[in-house]
Amino acid sequence: QKVVPSLSEVYKDDFKVGAAVNPITLHSQKELIIKHFNSLTAENEMKFESLQPEEGTFTFDKADQLLSFANENHKSVRGHTLVWHNQTPDWVFKTKKGTIADRYTLLERMNTHISTVMERYKGQIYSWDVVNEAVADTGVSLLRDSKWKDIVGEDFIDKAFEYAHLADPNAALFYNDYNESHPEKREKIYSLTKSLVEKGVPIHGIGLQAHWNIYSPSLDHIRVAIERYASLGLQIHITEMDVSVYDVDDKRTDVKVPTQEMIIKQTERYNSFFELFREYSDVITSVTFWGAADDYTWLDDFPVRGRKNWPLLFDEHHQPKQSFWQVINR
Ligand code: XIL
Repeated sequence: QKVVPSLSEVYKDDFKVGAAVNPITLHSQKELIIKHFNSLTAENEMKFESLQPEEGTFTFDKADQLLSFANENHKSVRGHTLVWHNQTPDWVFKTKKGTIADRYTLLERMNTHISTVMERYKGQIYSWDVVNEAVADTGVSLLRDSKWKDIVGEDFIDKAFEYAHLADPNAALFYNDYNESHPEKREKIYSLTKSLVEKGVPIHGIGLQAHWNIYSPSLDHIRVAIERYASLGLQIHITEMDVSVYDVDDKRTDVKVPTQEMIIKQTERYNSFFELFREYSDVITSVTFWGAADDYTWLDDFPVRGRKNWPLLFDEHHQPKQSFWQVINR
């Protein structure tokens, strides 16, 4: 039997290697997580709806449990996420009477949320996704429509970063998004973050979610995106990496085990992704997978509900896949 080296150990001089976890996987994948990852992110437990389901009622239990697990096992923690259009309760955007809240109220709530959460974990979370997915995928407008934007205005982003910086001046503050390598969206993310930097808004990095698949995006597009974002003098984190075995428009639901093509392609892709990350390890300071092993991945329910996917480096029995051996063979 081959000795399996620790993934994060192999990359310790390049960047942190993290995984998204939840209360179930923290138990079911405990050994694997302890061995291979030195950074943890809550898959859902630090989102607005988890931490403040009702105004003024903060529910920190599950997030606290993640923090104690991390502390006991000497893991760093990446925070995800403070301001997002999803998984945010309706009360945030409403008055007590049920009408739409005004800018002032919303900013006050944003500040309360950010400062309460960040101050609780001050010094324990090295980096936060302050604003998640604010940029529009297509069309002429820079930002997507969201209640944050509609009610506060476009400067809701500036405000979020300012509140976050006041709450924990030592945390690295990130703007995080998906489709981050797509040229059209890349330019929008670039111009948003560039204007934040120019205005002196405290932003320290850009998060590339990296929800990729075995065919797209191209390595070239990813490289250009990394260069473009890095040219702003910001750090880069890969925040939610997975490599789906299905192309974006592949709607098959009858694949019960990964095909040879899937395995070969995925192995090649992981190999070139990590080669690229190593090349840019002066700007890429953290690489987090959106899960640890193929027995649990959010892609089993997205974009097609109930369709098994195998997007990670470890298989359903927590054994290293061919992709893993490529990634550590450097
Ligand atoms: C996903 C979680 O993995 C799921 O469990 C949840 O049902 C929905 O959210 N972009 C993000 C993450 O920023 O927060 C999302 O996580 C995946 C896409």
